[in-house]
Amino acid sequence: MLEIHDLTVMVQNRRVLQNVEMHVSNGETVALFGPNGSGKTSLLSTIMGVPGYRVERGNIIFKGEDITGLAIDERARLGIGMAFQRPPVVRGVKLMDMMRICMDRRGGAGEIDVRRCIEKLNLGEFQDRDINLGFSGGEIKRSELVQLLAQDPDFVMFDEPDSGVDLVSIHLVAKVINELLEKEKSAGRRTKAGLIISHAGHILDYVNADRAYVIMGGNLYCSGNPRDLLEDIKVKGYEGCISCQRQN
Ligand SMILES: Nc1ncnc2c1ncn2[C@@H]1O[C@H](COP(=O)(O)OP(=O)(O)OP(=O)(O)O)[C@@H](O)[C@H]1O
Ligand SMILES: [Mg+2]
Repeated sequence: MLEIHDLTVMVQNRRVLQNVEMHVSNGETVALFGPNGSGKTSLLSTIMGVPGYRVERGNIIFKGEDITGLAIDERARLGIGMAFQRPPVVRGVKLMDMMRICMDRRGGAGEIDVRRCIEKLNLGEFQDRDINLGFSGGEIKRSELVQLLAQDPDFVMFDEPDSGVDLVSIHLVAKVINELLEKEKSAGRRTKAGLIISHAGHILDYVNADRAYVIMGGNLYCSGNPRDLLEDIKVKGYEGCISCQRQN
């Protein structure tokens, strides 16, 4: 579904990613670990096409098409979606209206579907509020997810979906992530794939990840079993990743 070759990215004259090689297959869920400031959000933002992330070298291939030069809305239409770590407040646009717009684009899902999604994330009392305006940290996470449900992307990226989410809501968040990634189907039957950033890996107690990458200083270091990598990081720290020879 996604292939990244030799990707080097600049933000404000600063190199935030270098020589990144990555692939995500259909049906796969991939986790991304790395210390603060290592380039995790930059990588997701570059895949999404967020303005400001300038590709110096390399390319991003989505479903066989080179999307490196495409605008963010074109990528969204092709089926890429992202739940942001720090999404903006959208003044003047109600959450419910955004849901309707997204669903209309997909061929006119009914009002019932819009309400069903909102109920699924317990956001009934937020539907008539401006998007993310005054929402708490955990509410923003659910707001991002409900918008993804409306978009129903094929490649879904989650930037720290578990941070700031309480113990009860994490079940809800995980349920929706599993739904977005079609986890109820066998891997071979899925048409979706996902990329999840998590620091402590809490979300991975509820959402099964097939593989994980470690990123440091804008370089992808290794790829492997998510549980093994988390255990190694807990014991040896991220520095241990530099000397580790684990490769995939
Ligand atoms: N617009 C910008 N201007 C200057 N520096 C930036 C900009 N955007 C990102 N950076 C820098 O790029 C580096 C990578 O940032 P990024 O947001 O990708 O980190 P991250 O791995 O997601 O960290 P965190 O775990 O804290 O969310 C950081 O040092 C950050 O300060
Ligand atoms: Mg980040």
